[in-house]
Amino acid sequence: MSEWSPASWRAKPALQQPVYPCAGELESILRELSNLPPLVTQWEADALKAQLADAALSRRFLLQGGDCAESFNDCNAGTIADKLKILLQMSLVLVHGSNRPVIRVGRFAGQYAKPRSEELETRDGVSLPSYRGDLVNRPGFTAADRTPDPRLLLRAHGRAALTLNFIRSLVKGGFADLHHPEYWDLGWVKHSPLASEYRRIVESIAGALLFLENVLGIRAGEIERVDFFTSHEGLHLPYEEAQSSRSDAGGRWYNLSTHFPWIGVRTSDPDGAHVEYFQGIANPIGLKVGPSTSPATLVHLLDILNPAEEPGRLTLIHRFGCDRIATCLPPLIEAVKASGRTVLWCTDPMHGNTLQTPDGVKTRRFADILSELEQSFDIHAALGSRLGGVHFELTGENVTECIGGARGLTEEDLGRAYKSEVDPRLNYEQALEMAMLIARKMKTLGGR
Ligand code: PEP
Ligand code: CO
Repeated sequence: MSEWSPASWRAKPALQQPVYPCAGELESILRELSNLPPLVTQWEADALKAQLADAALSRRFLLQGGDCAESFNDCNAGTIADKLKILLQMSLVLVHGSNRPVIRVGRFAGQYAKPRSEELETRDGVSLPSYRGDLVNRPGFTAADRTPDPRLLLRAHGRAALTLNFIRSLVKGGFADLHHPEYWDLGWVKHSPLASEYRRIVESIAGALLFLENVLGIRAGEIERVDFFTSHEGLHLPYEEAQSSRSDAGGRWYNLSTHFPWIGVRTSDPDGAHVEYFQGIANPIGLKVGPSTSPATLVHLLDILNPAEEPGRLTLIHRFGCDRIATCLPPLIEAVKASGRTVLWCTDPMHGNTLQTPDGVKTRRFADILSELEQSFDIHAALGSRLGGVHFELTGENVTECIGGARGLTEEDLGRAYKSEVDPRLNYEQALEMAMLIARKMKTLGGR
């Protein structure tokens, strides 16, 4: 095998890569990108890896969520704060349900590149390159919008840095302090059918905190300030390569554009360029697993991506759809068990449950998402395995992209506030409801 380098993926087939009109311009931009300061540090990535290792042993629980695709236009204070708020609220509910610390990982500060099933999109007889996320091109349907523009790589790095800077300030400044959950109030709680249950959970956590501090005299440092980690799909390999670095000669390489990059299901071929790139970086990584992943391929991928069996290195994020999980998941769990390896299993109940309405609008049913989630818990428990995390596409905004939930959104509601350029997200109320239903499920399983 030839030696790994951040560029060694270039010798392998790389799917889902944009074709830029001018290679010279791309190269000079990538050089510029590689000289910019990193967004995260290797110590943060290592801290997350240690926490994920705990989650694989059921000592923590992973909550990963955010937009399908972040948009440059939504890089503003309100949208970012709302994303943080909904993740905080959900995590509080999950702490309560699981009796475990929750690891919070946003699909944010870099989730700008999208895999597409079709190279081209055709409207009224006109075909143009598909929109591949703000990292690559623009959603408008003109040739100028859809031509890949390498300058967007620099803008993405800048927007990711602005997003992360604001998140770090909010977290450091006490916004995420568990003593003050009222800071995270999204303003809707008063009117929601879920309000009283949420309030009860918050009060019980506040009560536990008071007990810890006043009765037991424990000043729980870790409780006061929660951590947030970032993640995105490591899809655009030149962009990821340019942000790979090692702190000293002979040290390990890290991707310092995010704490937790993941490999998407379409680019998970063991012989492909993405797996080649990911095997050489030392970050904790995610691997999406779907109906097309065979048990033998999965075990082969574990060997390639985590040969040293490093705890916390690999999270398997499975996404089958509520109709297929019962047949697809058990053989994979059995294969991993037979390999003797420990992984963190996480469920993504979104990507196997996308459907189109008769009007051609992409949506997902709340009930399908919940069904895949509940089946995930049950299947792992029945096979003596553990589900250690959940992965959602969600937003803190009041959008209408998924149907169902306590408020009973219907297909007619989709037109009202549909904002996503790619996949439909749970809105804040649906996301919080989902967290409550997961918490309930975890209670019935008694911490399995
Ligand atoms: C995604 O997470 O947005 C995505 C494209 O997922 P998958 O690779 O599982 O289809
Ligand atoms: Co998506």
